[in-house]
Formats: sequence, C-alpha cells, structure tokens
Amino acid sequence: MTLLKPEQIPTVGLDFMNHDHAAAAEQINTLYQLLRQARAGDKASEELIEPLLAEIYAHSQSHFAREEAEMIRAGFPAYGCHKDEHERVLEELTQVLSQWQKDQHIEQLEDYLNTTLCDWLINHISTMDTVTAMFVGRYNHSVA
Ligand SMILES: [Fe+2]
Ligand SMILES: [Fe+2]
Repeated sequence: MTLLKPEQIPTVGLDFMNHDHAAAAEQINTLYQLLRQARAGDKASEELIEPLLAEIYAHSQSHFAREEAEMIRAGFPAYGCHKDEHERVLEELTQVLSQWQKDQHIEQLEDYLNTTLCDWLINHISTMDTVTAMFVGRYNHSVA
C-alpha cells in the first residue's frame, strides 16, 4: 500500500529534480507504511519514525539547495519567492519532528502526511518547480 504513486508526481524538465522528487515520494511512502504498522501496535516500526523524519528533513534540505543553486546560476527572477517557500517547509518539518519527539502522536502525524505534505509536494512540483525547470532548461540551452 502506497500513498503516492509515481504517476502522481509531475515530471519537470530537469532530471536532477525528477530524481529528488522520486526520492521524496519514496520517503513519504515509507513513512506512511511505518505509521500504519505503528498504529497496528508494531513498536519496531514506531521507533523507525523519528530517524526517518530526520532523513526527510535532510533530504528536503539538499533537494531544495540543489534547486536554489540552479536558480542562482541561471538568474531565475522568482528565486526569492521559491526559496521562501522552501524555507517555510523546512521550518514546518522541524516543527513536525519536534512535535513527534514530544508526543509520538501517530494519528496527528498521519494527518499531516495525508492532508498537508503530499498535497504540498505535488502542488509545489507542478507550480514553482515546473516553472523553475523550464527557465533553467532554457538558460542551459542558451549557453550551450
Ligand atoms: Fe523540488
Ligand atoms: Fe522547489
């Protein structure tokens, strides 16, 4: 059982971004599985949730940094707006991790995953990331 199917993730014009998005979707699916197993009483799965949340944060940080470096290189005009959104999500993920460390509230984390994080990822890819990939792709073509 998966939460995000590969076909739900929009494809953008740059491979490194598609690779990061596939990895992010895989982490979300693993978290979804662990939460289901934890809700069924599996303590071993529950213990894997905190390190996975830390990995999700770390991967998001490097995923966003790769996009930001390309935006700077290509002189993307909406860089500030795209970067602000990345920073907002990193802040949110920090809060989600510290909340989990405090209370291990399974349903609350499932709710965040189902109603916020998945929708955010798909929406962010289909808007800001798509436009960024188009701009950077054209820039690459113009300097090639
Ligand atoms: Fe992205
Ligand atoms: Fe992005």
